[in-house]
Amino acid sequence: MIENFDKITQEVLKDLEKTQRDFWNISRQTAEFLYKIITTEGFVSGIEVGTSNGYSGIWLGKAFKANGGQMSTIEFYEKRYSIARANFEKCGVADVITIRPGEAVKVLEDLPEDLKFDFAFVDANKRESVDYFRLIHPRLKAGGIYTCDNVLSHKEKVQTYIDAINAHPDYIHTVLDLPAGLSFARKIR
Ligand SMILES: C[S@@+](CC[C@H](N)C(=O)[O-])C[C@H]1O[C@@H](n2cnc3c(N)ncnc32)[C@H](O)[C@@H]1O
Repeated sequence: MIENFDKITQEVLKDLEKTQRDFWNISRQTAEFLYKIITTEGFVSGIEVGTSNGYSGIWLGKAFKANGGQMSTIEFYEKRYSIARANFEKCGVADVITIRPGEAVKVLEDLPEDLKFDFAFVDANKRESVDYFRLIHPRLKAGGIYTCDNVLSHKEKVQTYIDAINAHPDYIHTVLDLPAGLSFARKIR
């Protein structure tokens, strides 16, 4: 999969994988899965909560760019989103990714009214996962996909989110056995 990317992107991703633990990046396996979902579904509008140094954002950005789409990513730690910005530029995805700095709940509350998504990837404060879901839900289009990482590795912290999405009549939800556990839901209406 990574082989499909230009040489610079391949090098940046491989370099970032060396510091994966320091920046809490998702696994390569999860990144490849998200890339495939976005490209095969033809999604064109995405939101990521939790940018860090941009590892997952590069994969998502490549997928949205392949579809002619756009995405936003939220991060409150200036040092991390500055690194992410540089990585997005190096990998040729800065033009399709809007970095939205700040506290995720506040940033989501203040998003432009007409901004809707067909794909969401949540990977920030695990205990706030239920709040991110509550705020992204009205903006997710029917047919869209909602994902949240670490639902097996941080089971207790995300339990309120898992209960909320399981109980929600608009979603068909499952947990995928990817490293850390990926919550994966289709919004059906
Ligand atoms: C697990 S890391 C994200 C990793 C990234 N998705 C990747 O795989 O490359 C979580 C990030 O969310 C950020 N974060 C945590 N709580 C946040 C909040 N309340 N608002 C904004 N960013 C937050 C952290 O600073 C951290 O960089």
